[in-house]
This record gives sequence, C-alpha cells and structure tokens, in this order.
Amino acid sequence: MLTKVVIPVAGLGTRVLPASKAIPKEMLTVVDKPVIQHVVEEAVAAGFSEIILVTRSGKQAIEDHFDHHYELEAELARKGKDALRAAVSNTRPPNVEVVSIRQPQALGLGHAVLCAAHVVGDDDFAVILPDMLIDNADGKRDLTAMVERYNASGKGQIMVESVPEDQVQRYGIVDCGGTAVGKGEAAEIRGMVEKPKAEEAPSNLAIVGRYILPAAIMQLLKNTAPGAGGEIQLTDAMLELNASAPLEAYNMRGKVYDCGNKAGLLQANVAFGLRHPETSAELREFLATLEV
Ligand code: G1P
Repeated sequence: MLTKVVIPVAGLGTRVLPASKAIPKEMLTVVDKPVIQHVVEEAVAAGFSEIILVTRSGKQAIEDHFDHHYELEAELARKGKDALRAAVSNTRPPNVEVVSIRQPQALGLGHAVLCAAHVVGDDDFAVILPDMLIDNADGKRDLTAMVERYNASGKGQIMVESVPEDQVQRYGIVDCGGTAVGKGEAAEIRGMVEKPKAEEAPSNLAIVGRYILPAAIMQLLKNTAPGAGGEIQLTDAMLELNASAPLEAYNMRGKVYDCGNKAGLLQANVAFGLRHPETSAELREFLATLEV
C-alpha cells in the first residue's frame, strides 16, 4: 500500500523573489493557507500518511507549520475560538507523520528524491512538486485517480498535461508512441526527455509534478549522471526504469497553477478566492470594478 510521499522543498524560489527572501516560497499563501498545506491536504486526501520533506537550511517555517504551536493553541482555546484553534492544530491531521531530510547541495530534483532513499526504503512512493498546485474543484482529485490506477495496474504513474508547443522546453516531456491519451486516462510511456527543444520534443505532454514511483528508482538515481541544466534529473532515472518496469502517463483532468512564479500564484489566489466562503462575494465584487 502506498503511504509515503516525498515533497522536495529545498529550492531557492528565485522566480518569486523578493517575496521568498526570508520565508520559503512554499509558505506563500493561496487565500488562507500556504501552498505547501494545500499540497499536503491533496496527499492526505489521496491516502498518504507519511510526508517526507526534503529541505535545507533557512526553511524551518515549513516544519513549524506542521508542528503544534502550543501558546497559540492554548490562547485560542482560552478565548473559545474553537474553529480557529482546530484550523491551527490540524495543519498536520492526526495519523499523518511529517519528517524532514536535508538536501545539503542543490544538485537537482533526482538528487533531492535520492536524499529520501533511507526513509522510503523498499516501498513504492509518490513524489509531489509543491510549486504545482492542482485544482480539482469540480470532481475527484487527479492524485487520487492516479493512486487508484497504480493500485489496479501496479505500474508507476506520471501525471502529465498538454502544453502549448512553445512551452515544452520548460518541462519533462513524455512520449506515448502517438497514443491519444484522453483526460483522466493513462497510457504506457515509450520515452521521456527533460526540457527538450521544441523541435526535438516527442509530444506536448508535459510532466506536471505528481509521480507514483517503484522503489527501484532509488537504485537508479544513485548512478544517474547530471543531465539537462547540469542537474541530476528524475526524468533520466525514470526513462531508465521504464525499460524494465513500464510507467504510465496519466493525463490530468484538473487545472494546474505554477505557484513558483508570480503570475501562477496570483491566478491560484483568484481561482481559490472566488470559491472560498469568506472571500468569494467580496472578491467577485472587487474584480467586477476593475477595468481589465
Ligand atoms: C521539474 C521536472 C520536470 C517537470 C517540472 C514540472 O522541473 O524536472 O520534468 O516537468 O518540474 O514543474 P523544474 O521545474 O524543477 O525545472
């Protein structure tokens, strides 16, 4: 059974500077919660109960967010503010464990995942890239659907979405041998390439930051040489694994916001804010006053 999810949070957050100078980019908020909390809630909803943060110095605020804050909780309880107290103490739901591992050097996503190897052990596991916030407002969560698909097929799953052709060089791109993969469907992967040039991309199916991986990937990561951008790439290790244990590309149904960049973070705030009971009416009214 899948219980473990690795969440790399050691990035510098250069695309959202200066906001991320003194606080981790993962702590920037979408409405009333930091992005990392939205992502942990997604993982917990999909059945994961062991959250493994791969972090670095200067990012303690993330660990604090999932810990108890005794003074605040006692004060809110004393004032009878029970709903707020529950919101503060339930950032880490009961039965969910959060542990953190350090990534001492920024050697790439593959290296970050490898740093968690001794905690992951022999279990298959998920990887979530927390910049990518997935919105499944109108239905089942894509990560949950991926877990179900893994449980049924036993095959590793990589979430993808179609992107415009001029954007393929920003992503890992998968090759499903020309099979049309409908939304909410999955197909076997034939190849994969990290950040290809537009003319060299095998498709426009981009990896969006949700993976369910066989434990065997860790062994391969140990020997993965630096690839695109001089970094140890998870995509390269997955391509190698795919030769012996075929992986599937799952085409997401929801919408993804890249909260590691300014425009994506703003868009996520508008989309989530328009649905939040405490902000929707006022935000809708405000947006209507703007001349856009
Ligand atoms: C990473 C992955 C890439 C994936 C992307 C999604 O790249 O290496 O395959 O498409 O995340 O955001 P990064 O954005 O860290 O350069």
